[in-house]
Amino acid sequence: MISRDRLDAATADLEPPFAVVDLDAFEHNADALVKRADKVPLRVASKSIRCRAMVETALQRREFFGVMAYSLAEAVWLADLGVDDILVGYPTADRAALRDLAASEARAAAITLMVDSSDHLDLVNDAAGAARPDLRVCIDIDASLRVFGAHLGVRRSPLRTPADAERLAAEVAKRSGFRLTGVMFYEAQIAGLPDTSAAVRLVKSRSAAELAARRTRVVDAVRRIAPLDLVNGGGTGSLEVTTADPVVTEVTAGSGLFGPALFDRYRAFRPQPAALFALPVTRRPAARIATLFGGGYPASGPAGRSRLPVPTLPGGLRMLRGEGAGEVQTPVAGTAARDLRVGDRVWLRHAKSGELCERFDTLHLVRGDRIERSVPTYRGEGKAFG
Ligand SMILES: Cc1ncc(COP(=O)(O)O)c(C=O)c1O
Repeated sequence: MISRDRLDAATADLEPPFAVVDLDAFEHNADALVKRADKVPLRVASKSIRCRAMVETALQRREFFGVMAYSLAEAVWLADLGVDDILVGYPTADRAALRDLAASEARAAAITLMVDSSDHLDLVNDAAGAARPDLRVCIDIDASLRVFGAHLGVRRSPLRTPADAERLAAEVAKRSGFRLTGVMFYEAQIAGLPDTSAAVRLVKSRSAAELAARRTRVVDAVRRIAPLDLVNGGGTGSLEVTTADPVVTEVTAGSGLFGPALFDRYRAFRPQPAALFALPVTRRPAARIATLFGGGYPASGPAGRSRLPVPTLPGGLRMLRGEGAGEVQTPVAGTAARDLRVGDRVWLRHAKSGELCERFDTLHLVRGDRIERSVPTYRGEGKAFG
């Protein structure tokens, strides 16, 4: 388990703000994901890591086998660096990256594009031209739950039914320059929603049942048109549910490796905090308040308190409702603040996972009470993919 004394000792020579990954916690979290995936291969969600060294660390395990990239430009970069199985989890409109993809047999063999409409196929053709290797494509299917007309889940693909999927699969099969290789269903309302109430848990179980039945019918329909290499599903929050369906051939997970704060409220599992950042105390406005330098790193998603970083060590600190996490200063309150002195550190966790790496160039990898090595984040490599 992480401890303040140990993290302070390991990083005594660093000036905060800086970010660390506790390798023991990261490895514990990887073990837990493997166990929950129950022998189904795991694909690393790079958006939730945004650091090549940490993606590679996960990929060294035999149960992890490939990357789910979040941008095609990222996928091309990773393929050129030797990653040989990259599913781009979202459709792209990046014409330059499509040209780069089409310019190389090796990239085309490694990368699978995500599509959910013939508009995507048109855009690929337009950008990449006809003289190209076949490009691998995966069809994204809406995995949300519909209850009395309400849409519970995220707004992604317009394709929902076996007939929808079959129609696009036939379109892909008909066009030259494409090879249909996969189908993906991302059940955000199960994987990405903390178990905050009985109503949420009910939605999750209803959704799992509905999706299991629909997924089989969709996959059967697509398989009548093309043999599939992959049926992808899930995320950190849904592994045991997603892998219970035998039709799923692989699951994706990323956040569960870093253990960010949004995962503190899931029932089935609790990752250890592995990625943290340290901020220095710079002033003491009151006896029970210490003000930290920096910290205004809110997570994406519906704005609100759940998106703010969480003061983690010492325990018992909280942000002020009226200020939240500030652009330059973040006051924290609580009894533990009494003992904080100017120059001390407070350790925080990001609400989400990979976005932390958009704030820091380097992750210091801590093992026990020392830094094993320091590695660049995507940002540290000069890469900002969005
Ligand atoms: C397509 C897709 N798959 C999987 C995931 C799960 O990622 P994580 O394990 O980091 O929650 C996400 C997260 O948004 C996603 O968009």
